[in-house]
Amino acid sequence: MQKGWSVVSLILSCCMLLYLVLWSNLSERFLRRKSVTNLDFQPTTSPYKTEKPLYTEQEAVITPIPILYKDNFTQLPVWDFEDFYLRDHQTRNPICPKSLHNNNDPEFKEAVLPDIRLWFYNGNLNISEWNRLAHFNNPFGFMEYKYNEIKEVVELIPKPKSPILLPVPKDSPDGCIRCAVVGTGGILNNSRLGKEIDSHDYVFRMNGAITQGFEEDVGNRTSVYKLCSVHQQGIKYVMIPEGMRDFEWLQGLLQGKESIGAFKGVRPLSYFNGHFNESRFYVLHPDFLRYVRNRFMPSKQLQSKYWAIYRPTNGAFALFLALHVCDIVDAYGFITEDHLKYSNYYYEKLEKTKVIFYINHDYNLEIKTWKKLHQAGIIKLFQGH
Ligand SMILES: *[C@@H]1O[C@H](CO)[C@@H](O)[C@H](O)[C@H]1NC(C)=O
Ligand SMILES: *[C@@H]1O[C@H](CO)[C@@H](O)[C@H](O)[C@H]1NC(C)=O
Ligand SMILES: *[C@@H]1O[C@H](CO)[C@@H](O)[C@H](O)[C@H]1NC(C)=O
Ligand SMILES: *[C@@H]1O[C@H](CO)[C@@H](O)[C@H](O)[C@H]1NC(C)=O
Ligand SMILES: *[C@@H]1O[C@H](CO)[C@@H](O)[C@H](O)[C@H]1NC(C)=O
Repeated sequence: MQKGWSVVSLILSCCMLLYLVLWSNLSERFLRRKSVTNLDFQPTTSPYKTEKPLYTEQEAVITPIPILYKDNFTQLPVWDFEDFYLRDHQTRNPICPKSLHNNNDPEFKEAVLPDIRLWFYNGNLNISEWNRLAHFNNPFGFMEYKYNEIKEVVELIPKPKSPILLPVPKDSPDGCIRCAVVGTGGILNNSRLGKEIDSHDYVFRMNGAITQGFEEDVGNRTSVYKLCSVHQQGIKYVMIPEGMRDFEWLQGLLQGKESIGAFKGVRPLSYFNGHFNESRFYVLHPDFLRYVRNRFMPSKQLQSKYWAIYRPTNGAFALFLALHVCDIVDAYGFITEDHLKYSNYYYEKLEKTKVIFYINHDYNLEIKTWKKLHQAGIIKLFQGH
């Protein structure tokens, strides 16, 4: 049995109350086998079917394609543009000598796209773009969604002032951006890593993680936050909209109104206690999420009929985001091989809760991936004292 240290139930519990927590040259087609198969990051077998898009390139710019249904696929459909991702032209050129952008691990180098598009914002969705993304299940795209409903919300999302989330700190002696990504694993209990975590230039946290009362173990600084409300000045918020209700919530937030649909009557803005600031709010692009899934975390579950419910954990997305915007990444509270020794979350007050295996995540794959990234010198993973 497994633990869900970064999990759906948590997202759901915070999200029930509120819910918060992320081209165009169709001709530029990659054959996914060619680009990814020889990576060890792959499942052991990958007999994916390659599917053709359901429209001609001319039709693609005029009308949204007919809705595709997840139920119609018995495993992940792999389109011939599956492994095509938007890129950003303005990317960072790290001067940091230890930057993982200069990492020479052959597998990582082959999988990573340093200029992958991270953010999703107004102007990003037109019909041809929709027709590409409507082939992928949410949050990796918009399969089963309606163009007009999503388009309306996307138009409200502010464009980030810079494509890059984090500036190099002024006092950085070597031009390096050092980041701590803090998961919620019980391994942090009594770790006394608070000072070490806080000494990073930026600290990423997620999923309603509480720091109050646990500062000695997990620190008290937060610079980048995934999901749910935390009220601290200067924090940047990163959202992964999952499901129509997240888009409804987002719409309420960005219009400063009550949400419609699942969050009817909820005013998302009120969760920010007056600290909401659009220029610190980011939404991850479906291409980035799909890139993380396809290239780094392709669970075997994608080849089963449960393919559509699989997604990497929020911790995984946060870690890969950090890998793309920082030079040096230290991961704390992420799942390790000996996770059964610890409680699910560092902030559990009661005795250890039973570990739960959530079918929408692949914890064994995450355990292996974090360990591998650590061994390759790409991250430093805290594995206990
Ligand atoms: C595809 O799935 C939809 C929704 O579940 C269903 O109504 C439809 O009959 C399916 N089509 C085929 C060809 O199986
Ligand atoms: C649609 O959007 C994409 C991505 O932003 C852009 O590259 C493309 O030119 C747009 N296509 C049309 C027909 O406007
Ligand atoms: C965080 O902890 C440090 C000392 O460990 C303290 O000086 C600082 O005020 C704390 N900050 C917050 C926001 O609590
Ligand atoms: C919002 O954040 C930006 C960037 O951090 C800052 O320049 C601006 O003053 C903030 N606006 C408000 C109203 O706090
Ligand atoms: C943290 O460790 C203490 C002492 O070892 C223990 O009493 C407590 O139950 C642990 N808390 C969690 C959430 O594991």
